[in-house]
Amino acid sequence: MRRASNVHPVTLRSLRAAAARLRRGELVAFPTETVYGLGANALDEKAVGRIFRAKGRPADNPIIIHVSDRTMLRKVAGRVPAAAKALMKAFWPGPLTLVLPKKPFVPSLVTGGLDTVAVRMPEGVARDLIRLAGVPVAAPSANLSGRPSPTTAAHVAHDFPGLFVLDGGPTAHGLESTVVAFDPPRILRHGAVTEEDLRVLLPSLTKAPVRRLTRPARGKPDVSPKGNGRRLMNRGPSRGTQKREPVGAAAVSPGTKYVHYAPSRPLILFRRKSSLLAHAEAHPDALVLCPAWLAPFFAAWRVVRLGDSIEEIARSLFAALRTRRKGTELLVLAVPRRGLGRAVMDRLERAATRIV
Ligand code: TXA
Ligand code: MG
Repeated sequence: MRRASNVHPVTLRSLRAAAARLRRGELVAFPTETVYGLGANALDEKAVGRIFRAKGRPADNPIIIHVSDRTMLRKVAGRVPAAAKALMKAFWPGPLTLVLPKKPFVPSLVTGGLDTVAVRMPEGVARDLIRLAGVPVAAPSANLSGRPSPTTAAHVAHDFPGLFVLDGGPTAHGLESTVVAFDPPRILRHGAVTEEDLRVLLPSLTKAPVRRLTRPARGKPDVSPKGNGRRLMNRGPSRGTQKREPVGAAAVSPGTKYVHYAPSRPLILFRRKSSLLAHAEAHPDALVLCPAWLAPFFAAWRVVRLGDSIEEIARSLFAALRTRRKGTELLVLAVPRRGLGRAVMDRLERAATRIV
């Protein structure tokens, strides 16, 4: 049975209520400029444990700590390399996460036992909330493990009925932050800040590993959000928090080895428009996720419009993966792998059941 809605528009009152909950060790979902986060006091091990249990998140997948200022940063992270300082100056507050040496003070549960901690200073409502709470906030994306990241309060309420959610409307970027590690500087996860933007400041940035077009590993049963063996809602077979085949030897974020962003039905990613059209001809009941320029080719199909620019595509992608429109399978065309297109392709490849 669904519990009553606990979604609150952002006001000073709801912000204060959320901050008080964080201080009491409770979970709160809140909007950031990227996606909604599921937050807890990062220094309260019990509270952080609640995040892992609620999401069904594997214990070796560390969580980003969100800070409101440099003083809070110094509480959780040790020596900050010069390259990281330059990136902070340019992109904070904003959608960039930096992997830094961890202070012993930070519970190892947050960092999945690593000696590094991922830190980000978000802007707007999220930063106001952290400032009011007065504690650093550990927050993964506010979705059940394996599901698409939430870009609206309704997505969060769907995955976590009854959870206290601050509703700040649809998020600005719609994709998660870019994660960068140092010595040497390298991208661990493509996101809302592009590789090109980073390279302007850090020409030495190691070329990020290009993900091959691979399929997820199959055959293992799903893990339920509560770890009791139930399958996740609305999931196809063999999707879940199981591990993927490793993608080369490149060091990536621990989280990237798990299946992500699984939509509620098969998703097929096409490299070429011609193969998408040919497949759609044979599958009139499919639902096509379409940038605006492609929509005229699919007048006879059900389509979800993703917008025109790569920014719009990025912003609407996760909501499209959660669409409740009818359609036997989701069909989507690859986007050019440059700028934000890298992050979009990364998410599509992870979400895909099949790549053609
Ligand atoms: O935009 C975002 O980053 C959102 C909002 C809520 O801030 N958060 C988010 O968190 O996407 P999550 O947990 O869904 O993804 C965090 C990623 C994971 O791939 C995780 O493995 C990686 O960051 N990560 C966290 N700590 C790390 C560390 N110490 N070293 C390497 N990767 C780390
Ligand atoms: Mg996530």
